[in-house]
Amino acid sequence: MKSLFIALSTVAALSITSTAAFAAGDAAAGEKIAKAKCVACHTFETGGANKVGPNLFGVTTRGAAKAAGYSYSKGFVDAAAKFTWDEANLMQYLEDPTAFLRAKSGEAEVRSKMTFKLPSADDRANVIAYLGTLK
Ligand code: HEC
Repeated sequence: MKSLFIALSTVAALSITSTAAFAAGDAAAGEKIAKAKCVACHTFETGGANKVGPNLFGVTTRGAAKAAGYSYSKGFVDAAAKFTWDEANLMQYLEDPTAFLRAKSGEAEVRSKMTFKLPSADDRANVIAYLGTLK
């Protein structure tokens, strides 16, 4: 009985911790993930170049598909009229960009130009916290 109690309190403590991590995200940890996993295609500084993907400075405040001079895919531009980059949308997008675009646009054939996926929810929450500091 005692061990059951300990097991239950551990579960409760873990779920509190992961909820807090989601809400807050660790921007410093997120910066490390971004520098390791996103820099092949993105820059993060003000006025940084567009590479395979658009510059991401201010992405949480400028609106979706708004990097100057970047040529977004048509599916992304069409879908971007229907959402903003809040935490929930970024969580879904980074997990599976194509699935996100299909859900937002209602078009089954649309494909994201971003082929990269970030499966870990913790990594995504941290990267999103970092993106939120870029403004
Ligand atoms: C293999 C290249 C590649 C990698 C790696 C990549 N991306 Fe992207 N990303 C793209 C491309 C290409 C687009 C443009 C999507 C389109 O036009 O359909 C994009 C678009 C985005 C957008 C939308 C930008 C806007 O202006 O609305 C965000 C946010 C984003 N990426 C975040 C990330 C993050 C965070 C990472 C790392 C965890 C990452 N990407 C890794 C290629 C990449």
